[in-house]
Amino acid sequence: MEPEEVLDFICRRRSVRRFQKKTIPEETLTLLMKAAMAAPSGNNAQPWEFILVRDPQIKEELSRVHTWVYMVADAPAAVVVTGDQSSEWWEDDCAAATENLLLAAANLGLGTVWCGIKEHDAKKVRKILGAPERLGVLCIIAVGYPAESPSPHTKYRKEKVHWDRFGK
Ligand SMILES: Cc1cc2nc3c(=O)[nH]c(=O)nc-3n(C[C@H](O)[C@H](O)[C@H](O)COP(=O)(O)O)c2cc1C
Repeated sequence: MEPEEVLDFICRRRSVRRFQKKTIPEETLTLLMKAAMAAPSGNNAQPWEFILVRDPQIKEELSRVHTWVYMVADAPAAVVVTGDQSSEWWEDDCAAATENLLLAAANLGLGTVWCGIKEHDAKKVRKILGAPERLGVLCIIAVGYPAESPSPHTKYRKEKVHWDRFGK
């Protein structure tokens, strides 16, 4: 791909919160897992564990963990991104894996939204999924074929870029 094409592709990824009722093939979900696990990680620890949720009852419970995760109920799949908290970079590593997954999904014509989870809600997520306490929960990603198509945006602001020293 040409450099401009890569940038265009990255900018086309947008958060999607409305989905078609169309099942995602298991092979497609496996591709997303491969993309996620291709991410860099501190000391190459790869502390992530991904819980792929398709069960409607479990998605419904997850969708009530906080106000802004409601779309998980109607998405055909949700990926809960967790990491072993004994690994010092687990959040960074899981964030890198999440972005890889979002971009890979966009390339497959899938929509996603990253729903952040903080520790007070992580407890609820672990309980719903029967996950051990050692796992921190970074986010829940709703995944599905889009029923809305937000326009691409670059968000580039040159004043956010500082050359050599802050403020320059
Ligand atoms: C750490 C993090 C937490 C987020 N949490 C939520 C969330 O709980 N619910 C939601 O609808 N979107 C959530 N988002 C998505 C952002 O709202 C979205 O990325 C932002 O508005 C920019 O839009 P875009 O993704 O289309 O570029 C989150 C994104 C990040 C990176």
